[in-house]
Amino acid sequence: SMYDLVIANGTVATAADVYRADVGIKDGVIVALGRGLTGAAETIDAAGRYVLPGGIDSHVHIAQPSGEGIVMADDFESGTRSALFGGNTTVLPFCIQEKGEALRTALTDYHAKAAGNCYTDVSFHLVISDPSEAVLGQELPAAVADGYTSFKIFMTYEALRLNDAEILATMDTARRTGALVMVHCENEDAIRFLVDKFTGEGHLEPRTHATTRPVVVEREATHRAISLAEVVDVPVVIVHVSNGAAMEEIARARARGRPIVGETCPQYLMLTEDDLSGMDWEGAKFVCSPPPRDKAEQTNIWRGIETGIFDLFSSDHCPFRYDDDRGKLNPKGRNDFRHIPNGIPGVETRLSILFSEGVMKGRIDLPRFVAMTATNHAKTYGLYPRKGTIAVGSDADIAIWDPDAERVIRHAELHDAADYSPYEGIAVRGRPETMILRGKVMVRDGALVGEKGYGAYLPRGLSDRAKPPTE
Ligand code: URP
Ligand code: ZN
Ligand code: ZN
Ligand code: ZN
Repeated sequence: SMYDLVIANGTVATAADVYRADVGIKDGVIVALGRGLTGAAETIDAAGRYVLPGGIDSHVHIAQPSGEGIVMADDFESGTRSALFGGNTTVLPFCIQEKGEALRTALTDYHAKAAGNCYTDVSFHLVISDPSEAVLGQELPAAVADGYTSFKIFMTYEALRLNDAEILATMDTARRTGALVMVHCENEDAIRFLVDKFTGEGHLEPRTHATTRPVVVEREATHRAISLAEVVDVPVVIVHVSNGAAMEEIARARARGRPIVGETCPQYLMLTEDDLSGMDWEGAKFVCSPPPRDKAEQTNIWRGIETGIFDLFSSDHCPFRYDDDRGKLNPKGRNDFRHIPNGIPGVETRLSILFSEGVMKGRIDLPRFVAMTATNHAKTYGLYPRKGTIAVGSDADIAIWDPDAERVIRHAELHDAADYSPYEGIAVRGRPETMILRGKVMVRDGALVGEKGYGAYLPRGLSDRAKPPTE
């Protein structure tokens, strides 16, 4: 037949447009958009539904080494299954270079974890923790040429942080190779000063994690990262922005013509530092970096979403089990916040939260939702237009949403391998009910029908957004 699959009668939304059309799919690719498409082996009736590009979550942590005795809850099977049910068809997790490790070794190990196990397509960002001459001179340029076209650097965490000289050298390598740099902006020395002060006064409970990572340490590091990127003359992605002051650093730099991409996450809209003060060490469930702030900062982050300061809405899914010796309540972590692994799950709830709180509450329109959850991720990380849109020639990665479905988020109904959701009990409107990956129905009316291993690894091209502004 002419089409393998037609999605009929739905309302298609892209980052630019909302319109009624049928979507015709052949060999995993969108081949037709129009009314009354016929000649399909299979037709899905999407009347009353939104037909959206599959979500792309460009900031997730899966099966990442996490320190002595700590194990990340999700491997590639559970992590991508959870992502798929949450409305995603592509995720970009991090492949971490340990200090002294060759990038090729890190990549080989990480590919082995993913191979044959994925329910969504995947591509990897590198994390550069050891910017030696060999890494910056040969290994990183080779990795970029092989399709690993973005990498993250850290200004915090003892095992990962780079100093300013290392940041400059690493950014310079990005400029030479056309790769895009992502930066985690928190000032490690300032945090350590505060940790020594507060632990010295006997404060060891989860809330102290937030107290010792205040807005100022993120704002200063954001300003510094943007300034160092200006010295090198290279674009930069500021990831997981939690507050208005850091966000204003991005806005000011952009007003000067600096190409800065801003990312924020659901935790900065839905959680506050008060969540870290729960009974029985429950606050450990919400320990992530940067920490959630307060109601006023949530309002600031919404403003950044509404006005376009942020391009990317990602989950920063970084799952650890709560009630587990190798998770949040590990033997040391249950007495001292310094040993609670940082990060919270969220790959399955990201889209529903922004759809419900953003689109259904009238804060943003559907094209902006699609841009922030799919299209901009593809454009930023070298996957566009193969991914991130509904267009003839693009991969048939599609999420069919029921905009009226009402439910309450319950971890028992999610598909990850953690044992809690930080968003437990939050009511949401709208649900991704059918998921299609490269033309294959993976979830049908909320039931898993696709096979593990259909998700593929995606080498990426250079991003247009990584081009130095003066070239
Ligand atoms: O606490 C967090 N966010 N953990 C994940 C690692 C990171 O910095 O993104
Ligand atoms: Zn980070
Ligand atoms: Zn205390
Ligand atoms: Zn992260």
